[in-house]
Amino acid sequence: MKIGIIGAGNIGGNLTRRLTALGHDVSVANSRGPHTLTELAEETGATPVPVEEAARGAEIVVVTVPLKRVPDLPSGVLDGAAEGVAVIDTGNYYPQQRDGRIAGIEDEGLTESRWTEGHLGHPVIKAFNGTYAQDILDRPRPAGAPDRMALPVAGDDEAAKAKVRALIDELGFDTVDAGGIDDSWRQQPDTPVYGLREGVDGVAKALAEASPERPAAFRG
Ligand SMILES: NC(=O)c1ccc[n+]([C@@H]2O[C@H](COP(=O)([O-])OP(=O)(O)OC[C@H]3O[C@@H](n4cnc5c(N)ncnc54)[C@H](OP(=O)(O)O)[C@@H]3O)[C@@H](O)[C@H]2O)c1
Repeated sequence: MKIGIIGAGNIGGNLTRRLTALGHDVSVANSRGPHTLTELAEETGATPVPVEEAARGAEIVVVTVPLKRVPDLPSGVLDGAAEGVAVIDTGNYYPQQRDGRIAGIEDEGLTESRWTEGHLGHPVIKAFNGTYAQDILDRPRPAGAPDRMALPVAGDDEAAKAKVRALIDELGFDTVDAGGIDDSWRQQPDTPVYGLREGVDGVAKALAEASPERPAAFRG
């Protein structure tokens, strides 16, 4: 499958490693340009591209840049993607450590992914946001393994969500349907499921136990 990855850091780099190992055709971009991605390209066989080209022809695009950088992405960054493209958003809002205060999230009460959708101009599927980057490399397990981790996946487009859940299964993780993007506060930072390394039942239980109140440490 043709997959575009926007952001080549902790998460984008490790997704590039695993997805190329599975035989996918991966294009990867960062903010500084493809010439800074030659090492990752040599290691993985992925194609480094300018960010404007990352989505070209892709059936799945992963947006994995710091939240505060989402508005810097070029307008039309998803133009040229395959019809019905599923856009994965891995983002988290860290107002005090990294992102600064974002009014749409804090004052308008948008979920982090709803805010990101507004900037991208395209619906997203929220996935991997609570997954340690290293776990993408270290913790894949075959289906049915007793210690297989599950990841929550939220999104409004059911077809895109199904495509993303199938890809995550291929990557070696179970998934739990965490509802739509308006429900995705249940998997934001500091919720019970965030960073949880458990299977389907543990993840479903943690999602159910989440509180909608944004904790003080995650307010700007
Ligand atoms: N680290 C984790 O374990 C983890 C786990 C789950 C979720 N997350 C979330 O996932 C997101 C990415 O995290 P990360 O740790 O992978 O970030 P990171 O290591 O800081 O990497 C960020 C990447 O985004 C690129 N980038 C920034 N602005 C860009 C732009 N305007 N256009 C294109 N590329 C741009 C950077 O490129 P340059 O270096 O060229 O600027 C870099 O490759 C964050 O929201 C984070 O909270 C992280």
